[in-house]
Amino acid sequence: MSKYFSFAIGVGTQNANGEWLEVFYPQPTLKPGAELVEAAKEVGYSGGNQAIELDGGARSALAGALGETEQAGLVRDLISSKRPVVLTVLASDEPPSSTPEAYLKLHLLSHRLVKPHGVDLSGIFPLLPNVAWTNLGAIDLAELPRRQLEARAKGKLLSVNSVDKFPRMTDYVVPSGVRIAHTARVRLGAYIGEGTTIMHEGFVNFNAGTAGKSMIEGRISAGVFIGEGSDLGGGCSTMGTLSGGGDIVIAVGKNCLLGANAGIGIPLGDRCTVESGLYITAGTKVEMLDSSGQIVETIKARELAGKPDLLFRRHSTRGAVQCLTNKTAIELNEELHAHN
Ligand SMILES: CC(C)(COP(=O)(O)OP(=O)(O)OC[C@H]1O[C@@H](n2cnc3c(N)ncnc32)[C@H](O)[C@@H]1OP(=O)(O)O)[C@@H](O)C(=O)NCCC(=O)NCCS
Repeated sequence: MSKYFSFAIGVGTQNANGEWLEVFYPQPTLKPGAELVEAAKEVGYSGGNQAIELDGGARSALAGALGETEQAGLVRDLISSKRPVVLTVLASDEPPSSTPEAYLKLHLLSHRLVKPHGVDLSGIFPLLPNVAWTNLGAIDLAELPRRQLEARAKGKLLSVNSVDKFPRMTDYVVPSGVRIAHTARVRLGAYIGEGTTIMHEGFVNFNAGTAGKSMIEGRISAGVFIGEGSDLGGGCSTMGTLSGGGDIVIAVGKNCLLGANAGIGIPLGDRCTVESGLYITAGTKVEMLDSSGQIVETIKARELAGKPDLLFRRHSTRGAVQCLTNKTAIELNEELHAHN
């Protein structure tokens, strides 16, 4: 077992001051073999977590030291590139300390090498510059007016697709066996499981995603992970923990259904259903019904966190939120989930 955490060679963009805006790592590795780390020492790696910018000479030296590995082929392809190239070696999963390190961790998630919460992302926001993501690549916001004018002077349009700290995932990684109807709605750092369909209304933040086959037409907030076979209905919401109070980590178990416009502020266990339009927060008072429909007790939704086989609904005449045993857990439509 390797004692190192990750090794990756990337090519990226810097601003006029030589500061990194973003890095693309085509083949990041988890638990790299000793031969990769030994080769890194040839270009100045001296231990710990380091991002080393490689000039033409260093790229050739690294390619030679890497021998016949796949990574060697990657560096060779970049030897004569005018773009900045970086070698990032992480000895351990410490909080990231540079933009290339932060980008590597986001890549590890989207390449499905680590699951949400499987990598330390503490302090990542200041390391991700706010960037104009354009049809001509990443541009520093301070340099944008000049670049727009340069493009116009050549009769071209520089189109700004978004202004954000995170780029869209699919410009970096397209994982196997997925459909993503609107690629701008999935950020780099999302983990999209094999067999997932994300419709236009679906959204997936970084450090969040789906374990496997799923239908996503709602929003998966940062930190939320959705179990295999679950369906997030149109416009539904999963509560994140980045802002505004709650510190419960939200997750959805296997074979759950969040109805259209529903929402959850508690984690759901396996085979749970939330009626469309019902938002359950941790403090929501819930009437527990027995099999004959009688109210047994009233408890707070947080006490039901992670419990399986529950159906939540808002009584349509009384307005009370109720919880029953879920007798009909969903089955995903097989035809919708064939991705070949
Ligand atoms: C909550 C939900 C799952 C219930 O569906 P269901 O289990 O099929 O239940 P039914 O509609 O057959 O109703 C069963 C009984 O409960 C009653 N009932 C259902 N919802 C109720 C409510 N909110 N309040 C009071 N009674 C309700 C029905 O009137 C019916 O009563 P009956 O036995 O006297 O005839 C469903 O309404 C729902 O919201 N599904 C989400 C679908 C969705 O949004 N999918 C995503 C698409 S993008």
